[in-house]
Amino acid sequence: MKFAVLADIHGNSFALEAVLQDMDALGVTDAVNLGDFFSGPIDAAKTASILMERDFASVRGNHDRYLIEQDPTNMGPSDRVALDQLSEQHLQWIADLPTTRTVFDDVFLCHATPRSDSTYWLERVENNGVVRPASLAEVKAEADGVDASLILCAHTHIPRCVRLPDGRVIVNPGSVGCPAYDDDMPVYHYMQTGTPNASYALLERHHGEWNVTFRSVLYDAKQASDCALLNERRDWARALQTGWFEE
Ligand SMILES: [Fe+2]
Repeated sequence: MKFAVLADIHGNSFALEAVLQDMDALGVTDAVNLGDFFSGPIDAAKTASILMERDFASVRGNHDRYLIEQDPTNMGPSDRVALDQLSEQHLQWIADLPTTRTVFDDVFLCHATPRSDSTYWLERVENNGVVRPASLAEVKAEADGVDASLILCAHTHIPRCVRLPDGRVIVNPGSVGCPAYDDDMPVYHYMQTGTPNASYALLERHHGEWNVTFRSVLYDAKQASDCALLNERRDWARALQTGWFEE
């Protein structure tokens, strides 16, 4: 059994199409999707039509929740621009998704951590805004009580694989469509992969153990960046084209 793990597409239909082509070339047809599908100044409607047609097993991310929970006048600009592009049918598709689910008997899907859609897990932010890998104790604490051989998480956009001493494997596939961003919570910080490529992961079970392959897919990021500029988001445009948030 082999399947792809997609996450944090953030409305980037160009990156999503490149990932789907990469999967096709590798003969991979099955995938799961860990949420934050639409939020961003690119093409939420096209992203929604692709995802609804593919119907991958999916969980909702924090930005998906904001789209169906928040008053539009209080939304952040990346959520608001996506909301304006989405139909009632797209929003209902989000509303019908779970926040966590188990697939393939013992593969657990969540957006951020098993108990939260908005808490960093495999990375942590220090009080001075520096991002560091989480310690073993920090990673273990969030995995407490999750009965699965493979736990899939996203949200920080950083591709990473961690194996706990008890054998459970935790994988963050990175972000399909948003390689770098900044955030004010819990303190100002930025996340960056340092490449504009679209990230996702391939998982394959061999004799009960998980083999993980990270894919970093080249695509025409200028098309996505041009959409961001049309929506007056120079920060997104630069991050999409370079993979860096810092200048
Ligand atoms: Fe997220």
